[in-house]
Amino acid sequence: MLTLSFIKQIHIACALISLAGFVVRGVWMIRASELLQRRWVIISPHVVDTVLLLSGIVMVVQLRIYSTHPGWLSAKIIALLVYIILGSIALKRGKTRVQRTIAWVASLSVFAYILWIAVYRETWSF
Ligand code: HEM
Repeated sequence: MLTLSFIKQIHIACALISLAGFVVRGVWMIRASELLQRRWVIISPHVVDTVLLLSGIVMVVQLRIYSTHPGWLSAKIIALLVYIILGSIALKRGKTRVQRTIAWVASLSVFAYILWIAVYRETWSF
């Protein structure tokens, strides 16, 4: 049986792997590297991100978080959607390299915001 703290460790590990992978793919995008087209480079982020999402959902259910702290969780999910959209512009849909680079930097900022929410469990506080 998987304990909650183990699931949380998997979740955190996937978050860090996801970030590292996104940084590396962004660098390859800027350098127009052919590595970006490799099959494992295309598939592995989906695997990591699926485990990240599933482990998050399992924790939400086990901790019954939605009924107790809806604020930060909703913000996290909305920020995740923004991150996915910006990420797809950065690595695929952006028409020029400048557009893709701007989207990549914006995605990284949104990722930092998601980490902020995760660690401090609040939506914003500068
Ligand atoms: C890019 C996406 C995500 C990142 C980078 C991320 C990151 C993290 C991190 C670093 C923690 C540990 C915080 C700490 O204990 O200090 C955490 C906890 C958690 N995350 Fe995520 N997460 C992401 C997506 C999600 C999603 C989509 C969900 C829900 C469906 C979710 C639900 C949770 C829950 C429930 C916790 C535990 C909170 C607690 O211990 O009270 N996360 N997340």
